[in-house]
Amino acid sequence: MVKTLQNKGLKVLVLLTVVSIFNCKQEVKQDVVQEDLEPTGYYVEPYRSQYHFTPEEKWMNDPNGLVYNDGVYHLFYQYYPDSTVWGPMHWGHAVSEDMMEWKHKPIALFPDEHGLIFSGSAVMDHNNTSGFGTEDKTAMVAIFTYHDMAGEQAGTKDFQTQGIAYSLDNGDSWTKYEGNPVIDNTGIKDFRDPKVFWNDKAEVWTMLLVAGDHLQIWNSPNLKEWKKVSEFGKDQGAHGGVWECPDLFPLQIEGTDEIKWVLLISINPGAPNGGSGTQYFIGDFDGTTFTTNQVEHKWVDLGRDNYAGVTYNDAPNDERVFIGWMSNWDYARDTPTEKWRSAMTVPRLLTLRKLGDEVTLFNYPLESFEKHVALAYPESVIEILPTRKRILPLKYGNQSKTKFTLSVPNAQMYFRNKNGDSLSIDIDRDKKIVTLDRRKSGKVDFSEKFTPGVQQMKIPNIPEGPIEIVMLLDHSSLELFINGGQYVMTNQIFPNEFFRALTIVNNSEEKLKIEDFTEHKVERVWD
Ligand code: FRU
Repeated sequence: MVKTLQNKGLKVLVLLTVVSIFNCKQEVKQDVVQEDLEPTGYYVEPYRSQYHFTPEEKWMNDPNGLVYNDGVYHLFYQYYPDSTVWGPMHWGHAVSEDMMEWKHKPIALFPDEHGLIFSGSAVMDHNNTSGFGTEDKTAMVAIFTYHDMAGEQAGTKDFQTQGIAYSLDNGDSWTKYEGNPVIDNTGIKDFRDPKVFWNDKAEVWTMLLVAGDHLQIWNSPNLKEWKKVSEFGKDQGAHGGVWECPDLFPLQIEGTDEIKWVLLISINPGAPNGGSGTQYFIGDFDGTTFTTNQVEHKWVDLGRDNYAGVTYNDAPNDERVFIGWMSNWDYARDTPTEKWRSAMTVPRLLTLRKLGDEVTLFNYPLESFEKHVALAYPESVIEILPTRKRILPLKYGNQSKTKFTLSVPNAQMYFRNKNGDSLSIDIDRDKKIVTLDRRKSGKVDFSEKFTPGVQQMKIPNIPEGPIEIVMLLDHSSLELFINGGQYVMTNQIFPNEFFRALTIVNNSEEKLKIEDFTEHKVERVWD
Protein backbone atom coordinates (compact mmCIF):
# COMPACT_ATOMS: atom_id res chain seq x y z
CA MET A 1 0.00 0.00 0.00
CA VAL A 2 1.37 3.35 -0.95
CA LYS A 3 -0.05 6.43 0.58
CA THR A 4 0.81 9.90 -0.60
CA LEU A 5 -0.17 12.94 1.35
CA GLN A 6 0.17 16.22 -0.39
CA ASN A 7 0.27 19.33 1.74
CA LYS A 8 -1.50 18.00 4.74
CA GLY A 9 -4.86 16.79 3.56
CA LEU A 10 -5.10 18.17 0.04
CA LYS A 11 -5.28 14.85 -1.64
CA VAL A 12 -5.08 11.32 -0.36
CA LEU A 13 -4.12 8.78 -2.94
CA VAL A 14 -4.39 5.16 -1.92
CA LEU A 15 -2.88 2.63 -4.21
CA LEU A 16 -3.55 -1.03 -3.55
CA THR A 17 -1.52 -3.62 -5.30
CA VAL A 18 -2.72 -7.21 -5.16
CA VAL A 19 -0.44 -9.89 -6.45
CA SER A 20 -2.01 -13.29 -7.00
CA ILE A 21 -0.52 -16.42 -8.45
CA PHE A 22 -2.60 -18.68 -10.67
CA ASN A 23 -1.33 -21.89 -12.23
CA CYS A 24 2.26 -20.95 -11.80
CA LYS A 25 1.60 -17.95 -14.01
CA GLN A 26 2.11 -14.70 -12.26
CA GLU A 27 -0.62 -12.20 -12.73
CA VAL A 28 -0.30 -8.74 -11.38
CA LYS A 29 -3.56 -7.09 -10.67
CA GLN A 30 -3.78 -3.50 -9.65
CA ASP A 31 -6.75 -2.00 -7.90
CA VAL A 32 -6.42 1.70 -7.73
CA VAL A 33 -8.59 3.46 -5.25
CA GLN A 34 -8.19 7.15 -5.55
CA GLU A 35 -9.85 9.34 -3.04
CA ASP A 36 -9.83 12.98 -3.85
CA LEU A 37 -10.78 14.64 -0.66
CA GLU A 38 -11.99 18.21 -0.78
CA PRO A 39 -9.04 20.42 0.04
CA THR A 40 -9.10 21.35 3.68
CA GLY A 41 -6.82 23.71 5.47
CA TYR A 42 -5.10 26.89 4.52
CA TYR A 43 -3.58 27.69 1.11
CA VAL A 44 -4.16 24.30 -0.46
CA GLU A 45 -6.42 25.08 -3.43
CA PRO A 46 -5.43 23.77 -6.86
CA TYR A 47 -2.47 25.76 -8.24
CA ARG A 48 -1.87 27.54 -4.94
CA SER A 49 1.81 28.49 -4.65
CA GLN A 50 3.32 26.98 -1.54
CA TYR A 51 6.44 29.09 -1.21
CA HIS A 52 5.63 32.24 -3.16
CA PHE A 53 3.61 35.17 -1.92
CA THR A 54 -0.06 35.14 -2.91
CA PRO A 55 -2.92 37.10 -1.32
CA GLU A 56 -5.33 35.02 0.74
CA GLU A 57 -8.02 35.83 -1.74
CA LYS A 58 -8.96 38.08 -4.66
CA TRP A 59 -6.99 40.07 -7.18
CA MET A 60 -3.36 41.15 -6.83
CA ASN A 61 -0.96 42.84 -9.27
CA ASP A 62 2.23 44.90 -8.84
CA PRO A 63 4.41 44.86 -5.73
CA ASN A 64 4.30 48.34 -4.15
CA GLY A 65 6.03 50.19 -1.32
CA LEU A 66 8.86 47.71 -0.83
CA VAL A 67 10.63 49.03 2.24
CA TYR A 68 12.66 47.50 5.05
CA ASN A 69 12.54 48.82 8.60
CA ASP A 70 13.59 47.43 11.94
CA GLY A 71 13.98 43.81 10.92
CA VAL A 72 10.80 43.78 8.85
CA TYR A 73 10.33 43.71 5.09
CA HIS A 74 7.07 45.30 4.01
CA LEU A 75 5.31 44.22 0.88
CA PHE A 76 2.41 46.36 -0.26
CA TYR A 77 0.69 45.38 -3.46
CA GLN A 78 -1.99 46.40 -5.93
CA TYR A 79 -5.10 44.79 -4.56
CA TYR A 80 -8.81 44.61 -5.31
CA PRO A 81 -10.59 43.04 -2.34
CA ASP A 82 -13.95 42.51 -4.06
CA SER A 83 -13.08 40.34 -7.02
CA THR A 84 -10.51 38.08 -8.65
CA VAL A 85 -10.30 40.45 -11.60
CA TRP A 86 -8.72 43.90 -11.60
CA GLY A 87 -10.93 46.66 -10.16
CA PRO A 88 -10.65 49.77 -7.97
CA MET A 89 -7.14 49.52 -6.62
CA HIS A 90 -6.15 49.47 -2.96
CA TRP A 91 -2.78 48.68 -1.40
CA GLY A 92 -2.73 45.26 0.27
CA HIS A 93 -0.03 44.72 2.88
CA ALA A 94 2.08 41.87 4.24
CA VAL A 95 5.23 41.70 6.39
CA SER A 96 8.09 39.27 6.66
CA GLU A 97 11.49 38.85 8.25
CA ASP A 98 12.95 36.99 5.29
CA MET A 99 10.63 37.76 2.34
CA MET A 100 9.60 34.10 2.23
CA GLU A 101 7.32 33.65 5.26
CA TRP A 102 4.73 36.38 5.14
CA LYS A 103 2.11 37.60 7.57
CA HIS A 104 -0.95 39.24 6.07
CA LYS A 105 -1.88 42.67 7.37
CA PRO A 106 -5.04 44.75 6.96
CA ILE A 107 -5.48 46.69 3.71
CA ALA A 108 -3.23 49.75 3.96
CA LEU A 109 -4.61 52.28 1.47
CA PHE A 110 -8.19 52.67 0.21
CA PRO A 111 -9.40 54.75 -2.72
CA ASP A 112 -10.60 58.25 -1.78
CA GLU A 113 -12.02 61.37 -3.41
CA HIS A 114 -8.87 61.79 -5.53
CA GLY A 115 -9.12 58.34 -7.02
CA LEU A 116 -7.94 54.74 -6.87
CA ILE A 117 -4.55 53.93 -5.37
CA PHE A 118 -2.21 52.81 -8.14
CA SER A 119 1.39 51.65 -7.84
CA GLY A 120 4.11 53.44 -5.92
CA SER A 121 6.74 53.14 -3.24
CA ALA A 122 7.39 53.73 0.46
CA VAL A 123 10.23 55.32 2.40
CA MET A 124 11.17 55.68 6.05
CA ASP A 125 11.53 59.40 6.71
CA HIS A 126 14.30 59.06 9.29
CA ASN A 127 15.12 62.79 9.36
CA ASN A 128 11.47 63.76 9.55
CA THR A 129 11.80 65.96 6.47
CA SER A 130 8.04 65.72 5.97
CA GLY A 131 7.16 66.62 9.53
CA PHE A 132 4.84 63.61 9.65
CA GLY A 133 6.98 61.88 12.30
CA THR A 134 6.99 62.53 16.04
CA GLU A 135 9.81 62.62 18.54
CA ASP A 136 9.78 58.89 19.01
CA LYS A 137 8.11 57.65 15.83
CA THR A 138 9.60 57.66 12.35
CA ALA A 139 7.01 58.12 9.63
CA MET A 140 6.69 55.52 6.93
CA VAL A 141 5.60 57.52 3.90
CA ALA A 142 3.82 55.95 0.94
CA ILE A 143 4.00 57.71 -2.42
CA PHE A 144 1.48 56.48 -4.99
CA THR A 145 -0.54 57.40 -8.04
CA TYR A 146 -4.13 58.53 -7.74
CA HIS A 147 -6.18 57.31 -10.67
CA ASP A 148 -9.38 59.26 -11.12
CA MET A 149 -11.75 56.83 -12.82
CA ALA A 150 -14.39 59.49 -13.55
CA GLY A 151 -11.77 61.65 -15.23
CA GLU A 152 -10.62 58.75 -17.37
CA GLN A 153 -14.17 57.90 -18.36
CA ALA A 154 -14.85 61.53 -19.23
CA GLY A 155 -11.97 61.34 -21.70
CA THR A 156 -9.69 63.80 -19.90
CA LYS A 157 -5.93 63.32 -19.97
CA ASP A 158 -5.04 64.51 -16.50
CA PHE A 159 -6.64 61.76 -14.41
CA GLN A 160 -3.42 60.49 -12.84
CA THR A 161 -1.79 62.52 -10.06
CA GLN A 162 0.60 61.65 -7.25
CA GLY A 163 -0.37 61.45 -3.59
CA ILE A 164 1.26 60.62 -0.29
CA ALA A 165 0.17 59.09 3.02
CA TYR A 166 1.98 58.29 6.24
CA SER A 167 1.93 55.71 8.97
CA LEU A 168 3.38 55.96 12.47
CA ASP A 169 2.74 52.32 13.34
CA ASN A 170 4.76 50.45 10.74
CA GLY A 171 2.13 50.45 8.07
CA ASP A 172 -0.82 49.23 10.15
CA SER A 173 -2.79 52.46 9.88
CA TRP A 174 -2.43 55.33 7.45
CA THR A 175 -3.26 59.02 7.19
CA LYS A 176 -3.50 60.63 3.79
CA TYR A 177 -1.80 63.99 3.46
CA GLU A 178 -4.35 66.82 3.37
CA GLY A 179 -2.35 68.61 0.66
CA ASN A 180 -2.84 65.77 -1.86
CA PRO A 181 -2.19 65.51 -4.71
CA VAL A 182 1.45 66.52 -4.31
CA ILE A 183 2.05 66.40 -8.07
CA ASP A 184 -0.69 67.48 -10.42
CA ASN A 185 -1.05 66.30 -13.95
CA THR A 186 -0.36 68.61 -16.85
CA GLY A 187 -2.13 66.52 -19.48
CA ILE A 188 -0.11 63.33 -19.75
CA LYS A 189 -2.43 60.34 -19.96
CA ASP A 190 -0.08 57.77 -18.41
CA PHE A 191 1.65 59.54 -15.54
CA ARG A 192 2.33 57.18 -12.72
CA ASP A 193 4.13 54.69 -10.49
CA PRO A 194 6.35 56.97 -8.35
CA LYS A 195 9.46 55.29 -6.99
CA VAL A 196 11.03 57.47 -4.30
CA PHE A 197 14.43 57.02 -2.68
CA TRP A 198 16.83 59.12 -0.63
CA ASN A 199 19.34 60.63 -3.05
CA ASP A 200 22.71 60.91 -1.28
CA LYS A 201 24.29 62.82 -4.16
CA ALA A 202 21.88 65.75 -4.06
CA GLU A 203 20.71 65.23 -0.46
CA VAL A 204 17.06 65.28 -1.48
CA TRP A 205 14.29 62.80 -2.08
CA THR A 206 14.19 61.67 -5.68
CA MET A 207 11.07 60.47 -7.42
CA LEU A 208 11.04 58.50 -10.66
CA LEU A 209 7.79 58.87 -12.55
CA VAL A 210 6.84 57.41 -15.87
CA ALA A 211 5.06 59.60 -18.36
CA GLY A 212 3.85 57.46 -21.27
CA ASP A 213 7.01 56.95 -23.29
CA HIS A 214 9.63 58.33 -20.93
CA LEU A 215 10.90 58.70 -17.40
CA GLN A 216 10.76 61.90 -15.40
CA ILE A 217 12.97 62.59 -12.40
CA TRP A 218 11.65 64.88 -9.68
CA ASN A 219 13.38 66.03 -6.49
CA SER A 220 11.99 67.19 -3.16
CA PRO A 221 13.35 68.30 0.20
CA ASN A 222 10.31 67.08 2.15
CA LEU A 223 8.24 64.59 0.11
CA LYS A 224 5.53 67.24 -0.29
CA GLU A 225 6.97 69.80 -2.73
CA TRP A 226 8.40 68.36 -5.92
CA LYS A 227 10.32 69.83 -8.82
CA LYS A 228 11.00 68.13 -12.12
CA VAL A 229 14.75 68.03 -12.77
CA SER A 230 15.23 65.83 -15.82
CA GLU A 231 13.78 63.37 -18.33
CA PHE A 232 15.10 60.19 -19.88
CA GLY A 233 14.25 57.70 -22.53
CA LYS A 234 12.11 59.17 -25.31
CA ASP A 235 14.68 57.84 -27.76
CA GLN A 236 16.18 55.03 -25.72
CA GLY A 237 15.14 51.50 -24.98
CA ALA A 238 12.13 49.48 -26.04
CA HIS A 239 8.94 51.39 -26.79
CA GLY A 240 6.47 48.70 -27.79
CA GLY A 241 4.13 49.83 -25.03
CA VAL A 242 3.61 52.24 -22.15
CA TRP A 243 6.45 52.69 -19.67
CA GLU A 244 5.50 51.66 -16.14
CA CYS A 245 6.97 50.99 -12.68
CA PRO A 246 10.44 52.59 -12.81
CA ASP A 247 13.29 51.97 -10.36
CA LEU A 248 16.84 53.33 -10.20
CA PHE A 249 19.71 52.28 -7.94
CA PRO A 250 23.50 52.05 -7.79
CA LEU A 251 25.35 48.71 -7.88
CA GLN A 252 29.02 47.98 -7.67
CA ILE A 253 30.26 45.85 -10.56
CA GLU A 254 31.39 42.67 -8.82
CA GLY A 255 35.13 42.37 -8.40
CA THR A 256 35.75 46.07 -9.21
CA ASP A 257 35.37 49.46 -7.51
CA GLU A 258 33.17 50.72 -10.29
CA ILE A 259 29.63 51.81 -9.49
CA LYS A 260 26.96 51.87 -12.16
CA TRP A 261 23.32 52.89 -11.91
CA VAL A 262 20.63 50.51 -13.07
CA LEU A 263 17.29 51.80 -14.30
CA LEU A 264 14.37 49.36 -14.46
CA ILE A 265 11.40 50.16 -16.69
CA SER A 266 8.48 47.81 -17.14
CA ILE A 267 6.67 48.06 -20.45
CA ASN A 268 3.32 46.79 -21.54
CA PRO A 269 2.93 45.51 -24.20
CA GLY A 270 6.25 45.18 -26.04
CA ALA A 271 8.15 42.45 -24.16
CA PRO A 272 10.21 40.17 -26.43
CA ASN A 273 7.94 37.18 -25.81
CA GLY A 274 4.75 39.21 -25.87
CA GLY A 275 2.80 41.40 -23.49
CA SER A 276 4.42 42.68 -20.32
CA GLY A 277 8.15 42.69 -19.52
CA THR A 278 10.83 44.62 -17.66
CA GLN A 279 13.78 46.20 -19.43
CA TYR A 280 16.87 47.64 -17.82
CA PHE A 281 19.49 50.25 -18.63
CA ILE A 282 22.98 50.48 -17.16
CA GLY A 283 24.32 53.99 -16.90
CA ASP A 284 25.15 56.88 -14.59
CA PHE A 285 23.17 59.19 -12.34
CA ASP A 286 24.59 62.51 -11.14
CA GLY A 287 21.85 63.29 -8.66
CA THR A 288 19.53 64.85 -11.24
CA THR A 289 20.02 63.13 -14.60
CA PHE A 290 20.34 59.53 -15.76
CA THR A 291 22.52 58.90 -18.81
CA THR A 292 23.55 55.78 -20.67
CA ASN A 293 25.24 54.85 -23.89
CA GLN A 294 23.50 51.49 -23.96
CA VAL A 295 22.07 50.84 -27.39
CA GLU A 296 20.88 47.29 -27.04
CA HIS A 297 17.58 46.45 -25.32
CA LYS A 298 18.17 44.44 -22.16
CA TRP A 299 15.59 42.54 -20.13
CA VAL A 300 15.55 41.44 -16.51
CA ASP A 301 13.70 38.23 -17.35
CA LEU A 302 12.84 36.75 -20.71
CA GLY A 303 9.94 34.60 -19.49
CA ARG A 304 6.41 35.89 -19.82
CA ASP A 305 5.56 36.25 -16.16
CA ASN A 306 7.75 38.71 -14.35
CA TYR A 307 6.33 42.20 -14.49
CA ALA A 308 6.31 45.50 -12.60
CA GLY A 309 9.21 44.31 -10.44
CA VAL A 310 10.99 46.84 -8.23
CA THR A 311 13.52 46.75 -5.38
CA TYR A 312 13.52 47.38 -1.65
CA ASN A 313 14.37 50.71 -0.12
CA ASP A 314 16.74 50.46 2.88
CA ALA A 315 17.45 46.73 2.59
CA PRO A 316 20.26 45.73 4.98
CA ASN A 317 23.89 45.51 3.77
CA ASP A 318 23.06 47.59 0.69
CA GLU A 319 21.55 44.52 -0.90
CA ARG A 320 19.35 45.14 -3.95
CA VAL A 321 16.41 42.85 -3.53
CA PHE A 322 13.87 42.59 -6.32
CA ILE A 323 10.33 41.20 -6.31
CA GLY A 324 8.19 41.02 -9.45
CA TRP A 325 4.57 40.24 -10.15
CA MET A 326 4.43 36.76 -11.69
CA SER A 327 1.93 37.53 -14.41
CA ASN A 328 1.37 39.25 -17.73
CA TRP A 329 -1.39 41.68 -18.65
CA ASP A 330 -2.02 39.59 -21.78
CA TYR A 331 -3.92 37.02 -19.69
CA ALA A 332 -3.58 38.03 -16.02
CA ARG A 333 -7.36 38.26 -15.63
CA ASP A 334 -8.01 34.82 -17.12
CA THR A 335 -5.67 32.45 -15.26
CA PRO A 336 -7.50 29.39 -13.88
CA THR A 337 -7.37 30.01 -10.15
CA GLU A 338 -10.60 30.55 -8.30
CA LYS A 339 -10.00 32.07 -4.95
CA TRP A 340 -7.13 34.45 -5.68
CA ARG A 341 -5.19 35.67 -8.69
CA SER A 342 -1.45 35.59 -9.15
CA ALA A 343 1.75 35.41 -7.13
CA MET A 344 5.00 37.33 -6.66
CA THR A 345 8.39 35.97 -7.76
CA VAL A 346 10.73 34.67 -5.07
CA PRO A 347 12.85 37.55 -3.74
CA ARG A 348 15.89 37.95 -5.96
CA LEU A 349 19.25 39.52 -5.38
CA LEU A 350 20.37 41.84 -8.17
CA THR A 351 24.08 42.06 -8.97
CA LEU A 352 26.18 43.56 -11.76
CA ARG A 353 28.85 41.41 -13.35
CA LYS A 354 31.28 42.02 -16.16
CA LEU A 355 31.55 39.26 -18.75
CA GLY A 356 34.08 40.24 -21.40
CA ASP A 357 33.26 43.87 -22.19
CA GLU A 358 29.65 43.49 -21.26
CA VAL A 359 28.13 44.46 -17.92
CA THR A 360 25.05 42.39 -17.13
CA LEU A 361 22.38 42.51 -14.46
CA PHE A 362 22.09 39.11 -12.81
CA ASN A 363 19.06 38.13 -10.75
CA TYR A 364 19.04 35.07 -8.55
CA PRO A 365 17.09 33.78 -5.53
CA LEU A 366 18.21 35.38 -2.29
CA GLU A 367 20.10 33.53 0.42
CA SER A 368 16.95 33.58 2.55
CA PHE A 369 15.28 31.41 -0.06
CA GLU A 370 17.83 28.68 0.65
CA LYS A 371 16.62 28.39 4.25
CA HIS A 372 13.40 26.97 2.93
CA VAL A 373 15.06 24.47 0.67
CA ALA A 374 14.77 21.15 2.45
CA LEU A 375 15.56 17.58 1.66
CA ALA A 376 17.99 16.97 -1.13
CA TYR A 377 17.78 13.98 -3.42
CA PRO A 378 21.12 13.78 -5.13
CA GLU A 379 21.24 11.43 -8.08
CA SER A 380 24.31 9.36 -8.64
CA VAL A 381 26.40 10.44 -11.61
CA ILE A 382 24.29 10.75 -14.75
CA GLU A 383 25.88 9.98 -18.09
CA ILE A 384 24.00 10.58 -21.32
CA LEU A 385 25.47 9.78 -24.70
CA PRO A 386 25.00 12.17 -27.64
CA THR A 387 21.39 12.16 -28.93
CA ARG A 388 20.27 9.97 -26.00
CA LYS A 389 18.11 10.87 -23.05
CA ARG A 390 17.67 10.01 -19.41
CA ILE A 391 14.39 10.12 -17.48
CA LEU A 392 14.78 11.14 -13.86
CA PRO A 393 11.88 10.57 -11.48
CA LEU A 394 10.90 13.63 -9.46
CA LYS A 395 9.88 13.34 -5.85
CA TYR A 396 8.67 16.84 -5.31
CA GLY A 397 7.89 17.78 -8.86
CA ASN A 398 5.65 20.72 -8.19
CA GLN A 399 7.31 22.14 -5.13
CA SER A 400 10.97 21.84 -5.75
CA LYS A 401 14.31 23.29 -6.62
CA THR A 402 16.27 21.31 -9.18
CA LYS A 403 19.92 22.17 -9.65
CA PHE A 404 22.74 20.76 -11.73
CA THR A 405 25.74 21.72 -13.80
CA LEU A 406 25.39 21.38 -17.53
CA SER A 407 28.70 20.61 -19.15
CA VAL A 408 27.72 20.21 -22.81
CA PRO A 409 26.64 23.05 -25.10
CA ASN A 410 23.19 21.79 -26.01
CA ALA A 411 20.56 19.95 -24.03
CA GLN A 412 16.81 19.79 -23.71
CA MET A 413 14.95 19.26 -20.49
CA TYR A 414 11.30 18.48 -20.09
CA PHE A 415 8.99 17.96 -17.17
CA ARG A 416 6.28 15.34 -17.67
CA ASN A 417 3.34 13.90 -15.79
CA LYS A 418 1.08 10.89 -16.38
CA ASN A 419 -1.53 13.14 -17.84
CA GLY A 420 0.77 13.88 -20.75
CA ASP A 421 1.42 17.49 -19.75
CA SER A 422 4.90 18.61 -20.60
CA LEU A 423 6.99 21.70 -20.19
CA SER A 424 10.21 21.87 -22.10
CA ILE A 425 13.35 23.98 -22.07
CA ASP A 426 15.84 23.67 -24.88
CA ILE A 427 19.28 25.17 -24.34
CA ASP A 428 21.23 25.62 -27.56
CA ARG A 429 24.56 27.29 -26.93
CA ASP A 430 25.62 26.80 -30.56
CA LYS A 431 22.71 28.90 -31.80
CA LYS A 432 22.77 30.97 -28.60
CA ILE A 433 19.12 30.54 -27.89
CA VAL A 434 16.92 29.04 -25.19
CA THR A 435 13.43 27.92 -26.18
CA LEU A 436 10.74 27.36 -23.61
CA ASP A 437 7.57 25.58 -24.62
CA ARG A 438 4.58 25.58 -22.31
CA ARG A 439 2.00 24.89 -25.01
CA LYS A 440 1.20 21.48 -23.54
CA SER A 441 1.99 22.26 -19.93
CA GLY A 442 -1.55 21.61 -18.64
CA LYS A 443 -4.42 24.07 -18.72
CA VAL A 444 -3.57 26.56 -21.41
CA ASP A 445 -6.88 27.22 -23.14
CA PHE A 446 -8.16 29.89 -20.73
CA SER A 447 -6.65 32.54 -23.01
CA GLU A 448 -5.38 32.48 -26.57
CA LYS A 449 -2.63 34.81 -25.49
CA PHE A 450 -1.20 32.38 -22.93
CA THR A 451 0.64 30.19 -25.44
CA PRO A 452 0.61 31.76 -28.88
CA GLY A 453 3.89 29.94 -29.60
CA VAL A 454 7.12 28.95 -27.94
CA GLN A 455 9.17 31.49 -26.03
CA GLN A 456 12.70 32.32 -27.04
CA MET A 457 15.53 33.90 -25.13
CA LYS A 458 18.76 34.95 -26.80
CA ILE A 459 21.87 34.06 -24.80
CA PRO A 460 24.59 35.92 -26.71
CA ASN A 461 27.04 36.07 -23.81
CA ILE A 462 26.59 32.62 -22.35
CA PRO A 463 30.01 31.23 -21.44
CA GLU A 464 31.37 28.03 -22.85
CA GLY A 465 31.99 25.19 -20.43
CA PRO A 466 29.93 24.18 -17.42
CA ILE A 467 26.95 26.35 -16.50
CA GLU A 468 24.58 26.07 -13.60
CA ILE A 469 20.89 25.35 -14.15
CA VAL A 470 18.41 26.08 -11.35
CA MET A 471 14.68 25.50 -11.74
CA LEU A 472 12.11 26.43 -9.11
CA LEU A 473 8.72 24.80 -9.48
CA ASP A 474 5.86 25.84 -7.26
CA HIS A 475 2.51 24.40 -8.41
CA SER A 476 1.75 27.15 -10.91
CA SER A 477 5.13 28.63 -11.78
CA LEU A 478 8.56 27.78 -13.06
CA GLU A 479 11.52 30.12 -12.49
CA LEU A 480 14.52 29.15 -14.56
CA PHE A 481 17.95 30.60 -13.72
CA ILE A 482 20.80 29.92 -16.11
CA ASN A 483 24.42 30.51 -15.08
CA GLY A 484 23.69 32.03 -11.69
CA GLY A 485 20.96 34.35 -12.95
CA GLN A 486 22.64 35.68 -16.09
CA TYR A 487 19.63 34.55 -18.10
CA VAL A 488 16.27 34.08 -16.42
CA MET A 489 12.82 32.97 -17.53
CA THR A 490 9.79 33.10 -15.24
CA ASN A 491 6.56 31.50 -16.31
CA GLN A 492 3.18 30.57 -14.97
CA ILE A 493 2.02 27.03 -15.68
CA PHE A 494 -1.13 25.16 -14.77
CA PRO A 495 -0.35 21.42 -15.00
CA ASN A 496 -3.26 19.03 -14.52
CA GLU A 497 -1.25 17.02 -12.03
CA PHE A 498 2.21 16.98 -10.51
CA PHE A 499 5.20 16.65 -12.76
CA ARG A 500 6.60 13.19 -12.02
CA ALA A 501 9.72 13.15 -14.15
CA LEU A 502 12.36 15.34 -15.70
CA THR A 503 13.87 14.10 -18.94
CA ILE A 504 17.26 15.37 -20.04
CA VAL A 505 18.19 14.96 -23.70
CA ASN A 506 21.80 15.37 -24.78
CA ASN A 507 21.79 17.36 -28.02
CA SER A 508 25.56 17.71 -28.18
CA GLU A 509 28.26 15.75 -29.89
CA GLU A 510 29.98 14.84 -26.68
CA LYS A 511 28.92 12.75 -23.70
CA LEU A 512 26.91 14.61 -21.05
CA LYS A 513 28.08 13.88 -17.54
CA ILE A 514 26.17 15.36 -14.61
CA GLU A 515 27.76 14.79 -11.24
CA ASP A 516 25.69 17.10 -9.08
CA PHE A 517 22.04 16.64 -10.06
CA THR A 518 19.91 17.41 -7.02
CA GLU A 519 16.22 17.72 -6.48
CA HIS A 520 15.31 19.53 -3.29
CA LYS A 521 11.96 19.92 -1.73
CA VAL A 522 11.09 23.55 -1.00
CA GLU A 523 9.11 23.86 2.22
CA ARG A 524 5.69 25.40 2.22
CA VAL A 525 5.73 28.76 3.97
CA TRP A 526 2.05 29.09 4.88
CA ASP A 527 0.66 27.85 8.23
C1 FRU B 1 1.46 47.95 -13.90
C2 FRU B 1 0.31 48.92 -13.69
C3 FRU B 1 0.83 50.24 -13.17
C4 FRU B 1 -0.37 50.80 -12.47
C5 FRU B 1 -1.00 49.55 -11.89
C6 FRU B 1 -2.49 49.59 -11.81
O1 FRU B 1 1.07 46.62 -13.89
O2 FRU B 1 -0.40 49.10 -14.91
O3 FRU B 1 1.35 51.08 -14.15
O4 FRU B 1 -0.03 51.72 -11.49
O5 FRU B 1 -0.60 48.47 -12.71
O6 FRU B 1 -3.00 48.52 -11.09
